[in-house]
Amino acid sequence: MKLLIDDADIAAIEEIYGTYPIEGVTTNPSILKKSGRPPFEVLRDIRSLIGPAAQLHVQAVASTAEGILEEAHRITQELGPATFVKVPAVPQGFKAMKRLRQEGIAVTATAVYTPMQAYLAGQCGAAYCAPYVNRIDNMGYDGVQVAKDIHDIFTKNNMACQVLAASFKNSQQVLELCRYGVGAATVSPDVIRGFVQNPAIDAAVAAFAADFETLTAPGATMAQY
Ligand code: E4P
Repeated sequence: MKLLIDDADIAAIEEIYGTYPIEGVTTNPSILKKSGRPPFEVLRDIRSLIGPAAQLHVQAVASTAEGILEEAHRITQELGPATFVKVPAVPQGFKAMKRLRQEGIAVTATAVYTPMQAYLAGQCGAAYCAPYVNRIDNMGYDGVQVAKDIHDIFTKNNMACQVLAASFKNSQQVLELCRYGVGAATVSPDVIRGFVQNPAIDAAVAAFAADFETLTAPGATMAQY
């Protein structure tokens, strides 16, 4: 399972990207709004930070297929070929996805709450499909199970589309999908920071350092021996 950052905060992306095994960054209009900056200004900053080959997912907002196509051209022209255009899995979005497939522009189907949306997006040529795990949980359904069902639909029908699970509240949701082998998950910096926040881990590392100091000298490391 590939891991992506779901955010547009440059400092947070720099920190997480420099630390964890990250394949790219996803954004949506609400995430861009939080930056308070012109959309392409912040997106260009993200692109130069992650480099030309990493995945960058950027959402189209037009309500018609024609409008989405126009946005897709602008987005890929501005941000390069490793950019995925996020298209809502609604009727006008499906229409746009079929055209974008013909043009060779990579699509991530978004605003996915149901397996039927995912099936249709996959058939229309989307490369990824983003079920909103935590938002589905909040509606009283099981978001992780919906993401697993979508993965099964893609696998059993030999579809090339992969799950890019999104909208996570905690590491457990992410880990369950990792265990299941879905294609990717996009996760906020706060949830990623929580992946290895555990007093037992910190205590073990501190105890090893203290034992080494007792054996050698305060502040010593293997580099000095
Ligand atoms: C991804 O495609 C979504 O835009 C995003 O992950 C939604 O996350 P949220 O439910 O935390 O807003």
